[in-house]
Amino acid sequence: MEHRISTRVRDIAPSATVSVDTKTKALLKEGRPVINMSVGEPDFDTPVATAYAGIRAIVEGNTRYTATTGTLELRQAIARKLMTENGLQYAPEQIVVSSGAKHSLFNIFLAICDPGDEVILPAPYWVSYPEQIRLAGATPVVVDCSEAAGFKLTPQQLEQAITPRTKAVLLNSPSNPTGAVYHREELVALGHVLERHDVFVVTDEIYEKLVYDVEHLSIAALVPELMPRTIVVNGFSKAFAMTGWRLGYMAGPTDVVKAVASLQSHATGNPSSISQAAGVVALATYEDRMVRMFRQRRDVLVSALQAMDGVTCALPEGAFYVFPNVSAHFGKRLGEQAIPNAVAFCEALLEDELVAAVPGDAFGAPNHIRLSYATSLEQIETAIERMSRFVRKLH
Ligand SMILES: Cc1ncc(COP(=O)(O)O)c(C=O)c1O
Repeated sequence: MEHRISTRVRDIAPSATVSVDTKTKALLKEGRPVINMSVGEPDFDTPVATAYAGIRAIVEGNTRYTATTGTLELRQAIARKLMTENGLQYAPEQIVVSSGAKHSLFNIFLAICDPGDEVILPAPYWVSYPEQIRLAGATPVVVDCSEAAGFKLTPQQLEQAITPRTKAVLLNSPSNPTGAVYHREELVALGHVLERHDVFVVTDEIYEKLVYDVEHLSIAALVPELMPRTIVVNGFSKAFAMTGWRLGYMAGPTDVVKAVASLQSHATGNPSSISQAAGVVALATYEDRMVRMFRQRRDVLVSALQAMDGVTCALPEGAFYVFPNVSAHFGKRLGEQAIPNAVAFCEALLEDELVAAVPGDAFGAPNHIRLSYATSLEQIETAIERMSRFVRKLH
């Protein structure tokens, strides 16, 4: 056997987050007081009513296979949510529930992409998009969205990136890692470009509930002509603090839904019946208690970062990440240790001051680092003290 592992999987790019993650875990295991700002999940527990719905499902024997695309009850609840909260009209038959939004996205790329197809991917992007697109045989066409443009794709950039091979454009608002949120006029302008090109729009709206003083909007609600080509992705992990339950969904045109359903029927079958039962209750009992806390943490963290030597930081309007530019420190040293890039910066920050952050390389933005504020205000304040001390030590 020349290669035991397939080319498909061997070609997956090694994650730039792995080394920080491995070190963070090792340090935590040693009992070191690491402040972990590299995580992508809320620090809240699943709300109790939702948790009990899961327990009830187990005890009452709601523990069997469901319809592959999810229970009708959950798909009806999602259809109602999409209508009332997003202004999107989907029938329950146009919804496929999966084991997390990550799973929904993977299904979508596999269902719509052929080798040679291109998917336009605005950078900074969430780490899994390029790999999922490649695993589906397609090519991610990365478009750099500048810090000056709020890390958002402009209509001109979109127009230029579209080729006869473009199969889809990916939008993620609010964004992981930048927290950028597309405003109404920006989505309308992108929509007008997309109206003229027959491509899919895959819109990942998993952070929709986490917006601060701005409104979350869904592109097809603003430009209804795109509805037959738009695939909406959302899930329960972030807004409902349900990361471990693995529950997400997509809604889209019937042919894509059928393809995704067929693929899922052979790959994983239905998502967990227990999680689905909990998802129905989560949708019915949502409270935005997290949003106020996240906003307060964001404000504290951003103003501290803006005051820090050699750090610039935009104010994110959504999600729970900040994405400061630390490139003014590249080329400096910590003692004898060189800091040539964001990977070295994050490694040194972790080793020296026990703050875990993710280098921007993982998101296609190597001048930046990502800090998650899904951790207590107290921890954030300590992390700020440590980071301020760290950057002052760089020379
Ligand atoms: C932008 C984005 N999309 C999708 C996901 C996937 O979420 P899940 O699979 O937990 O539903 C994440 C999780 O980090 C994310 O940040």
